[in-house]
Amino acid sequence: MNNFDYVTRPTDLDPDCLPQHVAVIMDGNGRWAKRQGFPRIAGHRQGARTLKDLVRCCKDWGIPTLTAYAFSTENWRRPLEEVDFLLVLFERLLRQELAEMDREGVRISFIGDLSPLPSSLRKEIDRAVLATANNRAVHFNVAVNYGSRAELTQACRQIAEQVQLGNIEPGAVDEQLIEQYLYTAGTPDPDLLIRSSGELRLSNYLLWQLAYTEFYFTDVFWPDFDRAVFHEALQHYQMRDRRFGTVKLKQPCAG
Ligand code: FPP
Repeated sequence: MNNFDYVTRPTDLDPDCLPQHVAVIMDGNGRWAKRQGFPRIAGHRQGARTLKDLVRCCKDWGIPTLTAYAFSTENWRRPLEEVDFLLVLFERLLRQELAEMDREGVRISFIGDLSPLPSSLRKEIDRAVLATANNRAVHFNVAVNYGSRAELTQACRQIAEQVQLGNIEPGAVDEQLIEQYLYTAGTPDPDLLIRSSGELRLSNYLLWQLAYTEFYFTDVFWPDFDRAVFHEALQHYQMRDRRFGTVKLKQPCAG
């Protein structure tokens, strides 16, 4: 037990050393549901509640950006009913939660290839992005039909087209230029990646952007991921010595 209420940022966390961008892989919804004797979709429903509170928590604790992996390019291979449920869930949540998120100052954005999504969902996505574009309390970025390899492939294709048109010299293709063609252009790379449910892999998530990110894996299933677990992840983060390939530059946060 500890004395934190978790509404405000726990006092043992150094406010000057918080990750500026947290990325999450929300894994374990299905197993959580199975363990409770519920259908898998109940896990996704509960997982969405968890995510909603994490967005609010990032705002409350002063973490400016959260990116959540909601649907991967590989998730289309799930049973049709589950895919349909997830797409309807995204649409319903956007419709129901938009006003509140907007009031709370959440800026919503999406990464991924949104073109194959149902038009009714794309409409809600466009509406949410437009309505919240000027909000500044927290940036909530949702990866839908996202795959890192697809993202890098489309970036290469677009750059190749520009080279062919003579707008870009091949020698001008550098890391900064490539970043401009990623879905995440303009967003700083994540400082911390969290994956729930005990799985230890990246599953085609932000492969370029995670080059120097700190990883935190927890056995907790996503629907049970709460502020106490997030606190633990941040405590671990603050103990890390981030060197970015150089020698030690400064004391680790907790040091
Ligand atoms: C992975 O758990 C979870 C997903 C593929 C879906 C995540 C989506 C949500 C939590 C809803 C979020 C809503 C919005 C609006 C972004 P899994 O099903 O792979 O779990 P398992 O490994 O236990 O089967």
